[in-house]
This record gives sequence, C-alpha cells and structure tokens, in this order.
Amino acid sequence: MFSHTQSSLVSETVSVTVRPARITDLPGLVELLCQLFSIETDFEVRPARHARGLRLLLGAARRGRAYVVVAERLGEVVGMATVQIVVSTVEGARSGWIEDVVVRDDLRGDGIGTSLMASLSHWARTNGLARLQLLTDRRNRLALAFYDRLAFQPTHMICLRSRCPRKTQEIGPERQVRKRRQER
Ligand SMILES: CC(C)(COP(=O)(O)OP(=O)(O)OC[C@H]1O[C@@H](n2cnc3c(N)ncnc32)[C@H](O)[C@@H]1OP(=O)(O)O)[C@@H](O)C(=O)NCCC(=O)NCCS
Repeated sequence: MFSHTQSSLVSETVSVTVRPARITDLPGLVELLCQLFSIETDFEVRPARHARGLRLLLGAARRGRAYVVVAERLGEVVGMATVQIVVSTVEGARSGWIEDVVVRDDLRGDGIGTSLMASLSHWARTNGLARLQLLTDRRNRLALAFYDRLAFQPTHMICLRSRCPRKTQEIGPERQVRKRRQER
C-alpha cells in the first residue's frame, strides 16, 4: 500500500492512500470511468456496462490475473488504474495491459496519478510481467506528457477493433436451417 500527503486548499495536509480496490468502491469507480470515457471520444459513457466490467475485473483480480488500484482521500475514491495479464509471444512471457487510468478532475497534477502507476508497476514486477503497455488518445496531450514522464515510449502500432455479435443475437448454422424450414 502506498500513501502520500497532499496540501489542501486550506493548507492542512490530507493523506491519499493508494490501495487495491474493493467491491464497495464500485460506485466511485463507475463515476471515475464516466469522467474518463467522456474525455475519450472513442468510447461511450454507459455506467451499467462499466459496473459490469469492473465486477469482471475485480473477479479476475481475486484470481491473481488483474489488479485494480484506487486512490482514497477522505474516505472517497478519487483515482483509479487497472492492469490485466496477457501472454506476449514477442516477449515469451506474461505482460500487462493498463487501462482505466483516471484521477478526479479537481485533484489532477498533484502526484496521485504517478502513485497509482507506481503501484501498478510494483504489482507487475512482483508478478514477473515482462512489460506494461497501454493505449491513449493521440490528442490527449496531458496524458501523453504524463506517460512520457513515466518512461512509456510510443510505438508504430495503431489500434483496430471489431465488435463481436452478442450471444443472444447469434443464430448458429443449425438454428438457421431450422428457421428456414419453419419459414417454408
Ligand atoms: C492523466 C492523469 C491520470 C494523471 O494523473 P495526475 O494525478 O494528474 O498526474 P500526476 O500529478 O501524478 O502527474 C502530473 C503530470 O501528468 C501530466 N498531467 C496530465 N494531466 C494533468 C493535469 N490535468 N494537471 C496537471 N498535470 C497533468 C503532466 O505531465 C504532469 O507533469 P508535470 O507536473 O511535470 O507538469 C490525470 O490527469 C487524469 O485523470 N486525466 C484525465 C484522464 C486521462 O486522460 N487518463 C489517461 C487515459 S489513457
């Protein structure tokens, strides 16, 4: 667990604790993701989906396959970051995908993001991951400066994506034949 202190507007110090997320953090985490996805134009703000995704991630974290870290200040979740393990055939080892890096907008620029990333790096090292990677919006200059300070280097890769049909909408070959027979 990491901890750092922060000077508040009324000049007393407020401590920020960086710790693994708990299921009870869910509402605060969803709120932070809504802030993040409203900046990133590639994504939509869908709170129920984000809550479902977070539950899946927290389940993976319980099995040691992911880590969700939060920054807590005065009992409130004010920052978060996640990492999930994938296998890298390039590295011949496990590596980590970082996502969901966000700090509450009124508390940015005060070291919280750096502490969250330090916690992810520590977890990655402890779990023997060969490298960490992430995607960021090329127009997000502040985020690019943030990652540059943390020695993340840009690559020539671009992200492509394709939606998978939902299970309920899928009609397998057998059902399609049955459906055609019924229609005759
Ligand atoms: C990017 C982000 C997580 C960084 O967290 P943070 O707590 O503000 O970062 P830190 O205070 O630890 O580090 C500050 C550095 O980050 C950069 N930075 C990014 N956003 C900043 C902001 N709003 N204010 C000040 N610095 C910011 C600067 O390079 C700064 O370095 P400097 O102090 O030498 O100028 C946070 O600003 C944020 O939530 N931004 C919106 C969401 C986002 O873009 N997330 C990344 C998605 S890939």
